[in-house]
Amino acid sequence: MLYPLSYGGRPVGTDGPARSGRGETYQGSIPQDTTVQSSLRRGRRSPRPIWHPRCVTHTHVAGSIHADATSRAPGWLPVPEDVNALLPRLWSQEVAKDADGVLTVAGVDVVGLAEQVGTPVYVVDEADLRARARAFSEAFAGWEVYYAAKSFLSTAVARWVHEEGLGIDVCTGGELAVAQRAGVDLRRVGLHGNNKSLDELRQGLAAGVGRIIVDSFDEITRLADLAEELSVRARVMVRVTTGVEAHTHEYIATAHEDQKFGFSIAGGQAARALQACQDAEWLDLIGIHSHIGSQIFEPDGFEVAARRTLRLHAEFARSTGVELPELDLGGGFGIAYTSADTPATPESLAKALRTIIDAECEGLGVAVPHLSIEPGRAISGPSAFALYRVGTVKQVLLDGGTSRLYVAVDGGMSDNIRTALYAAEYSATLASRRSAAPPALARVVGKHCEGGDILVRDEFLPADIAPGDLLAVPASGAYSRSMASNYNHVPRPPVVAVRDGEVKTLVRRETLEDLLALDVG
Ligand SMILES: Cc1ncc(COP(=O)(O)O)c(C=O)c1O
Repeated sequence: MLYPLSYGGRPVGTDGPARSGRGETYQGSIPQDTTVQSSLRRGRRSPRPIWHPRCVTHTHVAGSIHADATSRAPGWLPVPEDVNALLPRLWSQEVAKDADGVLTVAGVDVVGLAEQVGTPVYVVDEADLRARARAFSEAFAGWEVYYAAKSFLSTAVARWVHEEGLGIDVCTGGELAVAQRAGVDLRRVGLHGNNKSLDELRQGLAAGVGRIIVDSFDEITRLADLAEELSVRARVMVRVTTGVEAHTHEYIATAHEDQKFGFSIAGGQAARALQACQDAEWLDLIGIHSHIGSQIFEPDGFEVAARRTLRLHAEFARSTGVELPELDLGGGFGIAYTSADTPATPESLAKALRTIIDAECEGLGVAVPHLSIEPGRAISGPSAFALYRVGTVKQVLLDGGTSRLYVAVDGGMSDNIRTALYAAEYSATLASRRSAAPPALARVVGKHCEGGDILVRDEFLPADIAPGDLLAVPASGAYSRSMASNYNHVPRPPVVAVRDGEVKTLVRRETLEDLLALDVG
């Protein structure tokens, strides 16, 4: 067997410029210094990159390819000591590998699972998802925790999180319909959306959702009129833009001024929106809502957002004599997709947020409002992995005598768009056997007609990976199935849950018949 040239004496790191953004590529020379390689092998890695939204570019596909040809593995990705080993924080609690190297979850091995349900498939560890929901509910005791359904929703997941004490945040009539079918208490459901249709607002009011988060003056008028027409009082929160530039990808940062969500605090629209809701006869204004973005690791952004929303809250109290009873700080808590990610625990997040809020309310002389948060990916993300079967393996020679393995699997950008959309990074492991081969720098790609159809941009996989092997991608529970498409008329994969050795289908596999049935022309 000829192993890729990329292993053995191959430069794996760079002393070049620090990596400053997830969409960025490396530039500059790569030292042919084997000490760099050996230090990385001992598990040392570059310090966590400091990134900033302005540094994050949506890299052009051709640009990425050119840059990769000179950059090889990114500095944050160490060559593994054992290419078969799992890094526990990337996986749900019930995941392990058996003596043959086969991935197992809650007592079920993925080789049997793949035979039973096929691939690709998303595999949810039910106990893990429930435990993450419970951990938020316990750490934030006294607050309301809404599970952000957009990260992944099925009726079973809605029931699980509800049973663990959480409310649910939905942002379309479709998500609300799932919550309704799940039979959850709709008073503990919040309806979001920057452009809710009249039908969606009507659906929300008829269902009796506990709160509707308004996002524009058009919507305030529309909702006020509808509530009057239906003679139903609507409990509303005003979504504000705090001007915080969350340190995350531009497309998942939502509190800077130049984007579509919310009313600007700095521009004065937020204060006007609060007043408009307060004045509307059929609206009950309950508070302010702020969501600064997603995949955020540092608490500073939440701190600034909390300070600015509480100031608005205090100013509103001063000018109207009304202290609004509630405040929502949104979601966005980061998770580990790769070894470079070190997320905070719900306990430490709760402690940091409580300290910030208490200090700020005391300083402003207002009572602490009833608080809520909306974590999505931190609950559903790490609880599931995606399982694929390898179809083809290509060794692509790069300049300088190195190479990269292109490992093509039976899914792709239609079941996980995040890599293409946000330059998100993932990890992968050979899931169907133990390998004695050395690690090779690989890129996991899909089966779609797109050069940007990349699932895992950089990972070390065993050099003997071959067609027929199973590959598992951790942290695939959030925004993979929920953002899946039918690009190239590929049916969407199923979602199965595993618990105590039992496999249960939550969402069945789409079929070609399903897709053809839509074509009625
Ligand atoms: C208003 C709101 N709340 C909560 C979330 C959940 O974010 P995450 O899944 O990153 O926790 C989002 C994500 O887009 C959001 O827009």
